[in-house]
Amino acid sequence: MSRKHIVAGNWKMNKTLPETQALLASLKDKKNTGDAHVIVAPTAINLQASVTMLQDSPIQVAAQNMHQAESGAYTGEISAGMIQSIGIDTVILGHSERRAYFHESDELLAQKVNTALAHGMTVIFCFGEELEDRKNGKHFEVVESQLKNAIFHLTAAQWSNVVLAYEPVWAIGTGETASPEQAQEMHAFIRKTVSASYDEATADQVSILYGGSVKPGNAKEIFSKPDVDGGLIGGAALNADDFFAIVNAF
Ligand code: G3P
Repeated sequence: MSRKHIVAGNWKMNKTLPETQALLASLKDKKNTGDAHVIVAPTAINLQASVTMLQDSPIQVAAQNMHQAESGAYTGEISAGMIQSIGIDTVILGHSERRAYFHESDELLAQKVNTALAHGMTVIFCFGEELEDRKNGKHFEVVESQLKNAIFHLTAAQWSNVVLAYEPVWAIGTGETASPEQAQEMHAFIRKTVSASYDEATADQVSILYGGSVKPGNAKEIFSKPDVDGGLIGGAALNADDFFAIVNAF
């Protein structure tokens, strides 16, 4: 199996510049005892400082979002070119908070994915069902639709720059983690869906991360599942000890 283990910290709208520098200094001192690739995604304003602080570290920096246009009258936005110009080539797209608060549709996300891949960037593509969907037994249908509408137009070759992040919305920030069995069931479904739309090799090489209340106490069991290749971590990423307890769960 050639796919990578990845643990990425999505810091969301947290940490001032001094707080970012303090957390990164702690993270740099941590030992990675496993094989996980470690990524941190600070807020846009702190990306440059983070790249500078981590230039002698294996920890990679990712952006939490980007605009689909190359440039123009989009106040407050940042582009793929700007992100790459400071040495970052990974971007999180489709997070449920972007979909909910900023009304990012599957169609818009398809445009963002296209722009990021056109720049040769790696996309951590987020998707996941709402609690209502799961209660109604629609969670597989919803996940399949999100994937097909936003990234199944890609060529098989483009998938080498795609990381999937399944984040059941009802588990994000709630402490209500999906069980390892629920995570494995959905990840296996996702891999089967990629295989059916492309081929087995494409499905086998894509890393599928789980996100939604991953903590030091549950990471090992979740990561032990065959189709879980790591995690996209929110709250626990803001504490160096907790984040590396999760990194070292592999
Ligand atoms: O992107 C990761 C995030 O949505 C998960 O948040 O706090 O439940 O780990 P949290």
